[in-house]
Amino acid sequence: MRTAAETMSGKKTEVKKFESKYGYFTKDGREYVITRPDTPRPWINVVCNGDFGFVVSQTGSGFSWLDNSNLSRVTRWEQDLIKDEWGKYIYIRDNKTGEFWSATWKPCCPKFDFYEARYGQGYVILTSVFKGIRAVLTMFVDRDEPVEIWNLALTNESEKERSLSLFSYFEFCLGNAGDTHREFQKTFIETEINCEDGVIYGKKRSALVPGFISTGLSEIPVEAFHAAWPKPVAYDSDKEAFFGRYGNILTPRAVREGKLLNTDGRWVDSVASLQNDVTLKPGETKAVIYTVGASRIKETSARDRFKKLIAKYRSEETVKKELERFKALWNDFIEKSSIETPDEAFNFMTNIWLKYQAIAGRLWARCAYYQSSGGIGFRDQLQDSLVFLPLKPELTRKQILLHAEQQFEDGTVHHWWHPDTGKGAVTHMTDDLLWLAFITLHYIDETNDETVLDEIAPFLPGHTGEVKRGSIYDHCIRAMDKVLSRWSVRGLPLIGEGDWNDGLSHVGVRMKGESVWLGHFFYWILKQFAPICGKRGEPERMKNYLDRAEKLKAAINEHAWDGEWYIRATRDDGRPLGSKVCKGKEGGVIFLNAQTWAVFHGTATPERAKQAMASCEKHLFREYGALLFTPAYTKSDPTIGYLSRYAPSIRENGGVYTHAATWAVQALCAMRNGDLAFEVYSRMCPIVRGLNPDLYFVEPYATPGNVDGPDSPNFGRGGWTWYTGSGAWTFRVGMNYIVGVRPVREGLMIDPVIPKSWKKLSVKRFFRGATYKIEIENPKGVSSGVKQVTVDGKAIEGNII
Ligand code: GLC
Repeated sequence: MRTAAETMSGKKTEVKKFESKYGYFTKDGREYVITRPDTPRPWINVVCNGDFGFVVSQTGSGFSWLDNSNLSRVTRWEQDLIKDEWGKYIYIRDNKTGEFWSATWKPCCPKFDFYEARYGQGYVILTSVFKGIRAVLTMFVDRDEPVEIWNLALTNESEKERSLSLFSYFEFCLGNAGDTHREFQKTFIETEINCEDGVIYGKKRSALVPGFISTGLSEIPVEAFHAAWPKPVAYDSDKEAFFGRYGNILTPRAVREGKLLNTDGRWVDSVASLQNDVTLKPGETKAVIYTVGASRIKETSARDRFKKLIAKYRSEETVKKELERFKALWNDFIEKSSIETPDEAFNFMTNIWLKYQAIAGRLWARCAYYQSSGGIGFRDQLQDSLVFLPLKPELTRKQILLHAEQQFEDGTVHHWWHPDTGKGAVTHMTDDLLWLAFITLHYIDETNDETVLDEIAPFLPGHTGEVKRGSIYDHCIRAMDKVLSRWSVRGLPLIGEGDWNDGLSHVGVRMKGESVWLGHFFYWILKQFAPICGKRGEPERMKNYLDRAEKLKAAINEHAWDGEWYIRATRDDGRPLGSKVCKGKEGGVIFLNAQTWAVFHGTATPERAKQAMASCEKHLFREYGALLFTPAYTKSDPTIGYLSRYAPSIRENGGVYTHAATWAVQALCAMRNGDLAFEVYSRMCPIVRGLNPDLYFVEPYATPGNVDGPDSPNFGRGGWTWYTGSGAWTFRVGMNYIVGVRPVREGLMIDPVIPKSWKKLSVKRFFRGATYKIEIENPKGVSSGVKQVTVDGKAIEGNII
């Protein structure tokens, strides 16, 4: 933790990297420091230990949850990124003058003398200086326990003794964030002030109300607490007592009057506010430690657990120790595998922030300011788990097993589900099931460990309610066989309600339209999986898969080549998407995924691969990255799907969709075009884009789900930051294809595809139990092609170690 002296002046000389008018990275890239609160959009951090977590923005707003960031929110929040004024706040009141403000910029928006939001992996430090009081608020979560800690250190930088009262405040949610019928929901909440423990306990009872009565009740109710040390002098859990009648968040009654009234929240709207009085001599620093914790309602011993946690966080020593322990968790991920290239933005993103985003944001929290789902997407978190491969591949394996349980016996899967609720979406998406085999194959490449295929996982119960089990091998082949059964007469896979692109939701609802992308995707899976079948005593299956793969490739090249690129799909009525014939009024002339996957999954012939990428370069590689397709649709089209109803160039309607744009980089690497590959990477790199923040708008340290494309008036503006897919794939493409150190069955392949100007790079790669230190030298200034590999001083044949 930063000491008061270190942060005293706010002018500490610090090396600033990639500085913009809103902030900078520290020298080692491990922290991003926001220097003023009015960033163009909330810039957040997601802090989560895999169970409990919170999001917080640079204004101090945000919310907390236990386990499911949507169905079991601990504190209430409203998704309003313009106002950003729902949160867990602390007011500071000067008891002599009656003046008050907030420790963070929201809710009071004081004109601070100094303000800073410092984000690291697993923690946030928000510092303000106002009226001679420095407030340093350090927030993190316990590494193993469902509790967050806010250590508020106050320093009196004025000449006079100061008498202050502090008022923490947040509103209890304790269940589903989307509780549409609030007056009904609140009747299930109760609160209890316990002065002995220095805490307000809150609890939402499981409603036992049939779902048709209220949508808000599909939730996982939780029990929670809010405590402070030293013990508070007063408490409020009635919202009206805190605010006053028709009061507001800027000037709540309690803070105006300087006192809480020890009210209960059971019969009213439940909040939690704790009052602590602090007297500070000039130069003196004192801290108040606040905690917010939660537990599932079904845990009968929740109260005992809470009491232990409250007692644990009663010393600054513990706070320091636990913060270090939580940081150490992240250090492990950060140090396990890393790169050192001439491009520092690339290094910072790859080594630190992309891993952190994928793990904290998407695998654990499944939460951000834009998408806060709490659910697990069948294809999403499998892809996100790719990030674990060079770090802790056992966690990818865990993810494979988790997802396998969401498969029905017929091979289809829940498109997404909420763990422990029995709730999952049954759809007619046609690709999601295949990601199980895809990720399993990559896991095997990483580890050379085929025992994962023998792990047993249950299938979802069928109509009879009977639960069958099968090996992961069985799960994978059921998925493949299902897709093979959904085939068009021309020999292409059907698109159904969408493939990777959810927004192509109506292209093939009558199960006639075809997906060319799915063909590229599946071709490689069939080819890779076939030898496994052979090895496992199924030569017939092996033969069949290889045969189907070749037929698929032939069908793609016979029916899906449009002259200069591959079409993306056909609709139920046979009309194509992503073809020259879509010109003019229609939109969607050329699609990215139909080209990139053809290149690196090998469905394209070498000439077509070249031509397809040339077409991408001409039409899709734009100023801020590779467009998903162009032009954007301007009219909603019932034969395409919901993406045609978005504003043009937003998200999947022809914007830069980061997740897919990374595949353009991979394809360019496959074409050995190192200069362009890195150029396309850099055009969307958040650190680079963050140097022009008033155009880009969003965080410079997290990938956005999308950037507005050229048919938007905000061309170049980022959105949906911390989104699924984007972090893990940007990481993977950087490590495996640009730096080019990647696993193959035989070992670790060294195959960089880099800008010619890079003369030297080094890689630390954890691989199959060992850590490799790899130095890559490029004296001749080429982009690719390894001349010689030396291992421990000895030259080896080829480029696989
Ligand atoms: C979102 C979804 C993901 C999908 C992508 C494209 O990222 O979570 O599953 O592949 O959009 O539609």
